Amino acid sequence: MTEAVVHIEDFSYKYPYSEKEVLHNVTLKIFDRDFLLLAGASGSGKTTLARAIVGLIPQFYGGEYRGEIRVFDMDPSLTPIYKITEQVGFLFQNPENQIFMTTVLRDIVFGMEFRGFPREEMEERVRWISRELNIAHLIGRRTEELSGGEKQKVALAGLMVLKPRLLILDEPSAYLSPAATKSLLELLRRLNKDLGLTIVIIDHRLDLVVKYINRIVVLVDGEIKLDTDVRSALQENLSKEYGVNMPVISKLYTELKRRGVYCGTPPLDADELVSNILVDQEGGG
Ligand SMILES: Nc1ncnc2c1ncn2[C@@H]1O[C@H](COP(=O)(O)OP(=O)(O)OP(=O)(O)O)[C@@H](O)[C@H]1O
Ligand SMILES: [Mg+2]
Repeated sequence: MTEAVVHIEDFSYKYPYSEKEVLHNVTLKIFDRDFLLLAGASGSGKTTLARAIVGLIPQFYGGEYRGEIRVFDMDPSLTPIYKITEQVGFLFQNPENQIFMTTVLRDIVFGMEFRGFPREEMEERVRWISRELNIAHLIGRRTEELSGGEKQKVALAGLMVLKPRLLILDEPSAYLSPAATKSLLELLRRLNKDLGLTIVIIDHRLDLVVKYINRIVVLVDGEIKLDTDVRSALQENLSKEYGVNMPVISKLYTELKRRGVYCGTPPLDADELVSNILVDQEGGG
């Protein structure tokens, strides 16, 4: 059986000075090598849950919480954040808040310098991540000159050089074109498969991410309302019930099924749908 790397048990949370709880009785296990989409309408608590996993809640934000979280056997409410971030990379919703050095190179190596990595190791890891993220041309640049998408890649590079076991990305598509989002997702898939990196992605663009994930967890007003594998999720109308925009491919699937044209498994993209229909037809006639 796959091991859970994050255990969240009956976790509830309220920000300081705020009237109401933002998370209620959240229970969730994240398993080793999951590629999990955390979805939900704006304000449903996705970012808050991510902050709790990396310890920013309660260590930075304060507030009141109940329940328990374990992340790689650490208690994120008590473990120093720099210890947690060696295992868990968290790409913020706004990369402006994550880049604080003046040059790209200094920003990427900051975490390694702080931890006293030997120079050769730092150089090797910078070369590795520059290749992986295709950012070698940015290394000598000043961070203030970068575009939003470039800043996001630099922030991601700074997290990845620490070789975390879990990576949480908060709406990475917000600053990227669909094509750039796709290439980021391809990279994440490679890191997930080759390095065994566990990934939690928060994103509204289901049409772009469904092909890459294995699991969908949906938050509604701070409660987990759905936790299922991706194909089962595509058979449900999440838009109506949970305020999640369903990808076009799942609307197409529902319609073709209603018309009796196709009754196979829900496809993750158009190519898969077409080839399934062709196989169906050959099999049928
Ligand atoms: N620092 C804070 N102090 C007080 N309330 C906060 C704070 N940050 C977020 N909230 C509130 O907590 C609720 C959940 O916010 P959160 O940012 O976790 O939602 P989200 O699902 O990430 O939304 P989005 O999709 O817009 O990013 C919202 O009502 C928000 O206003
Ligand atoms: Mg958010």
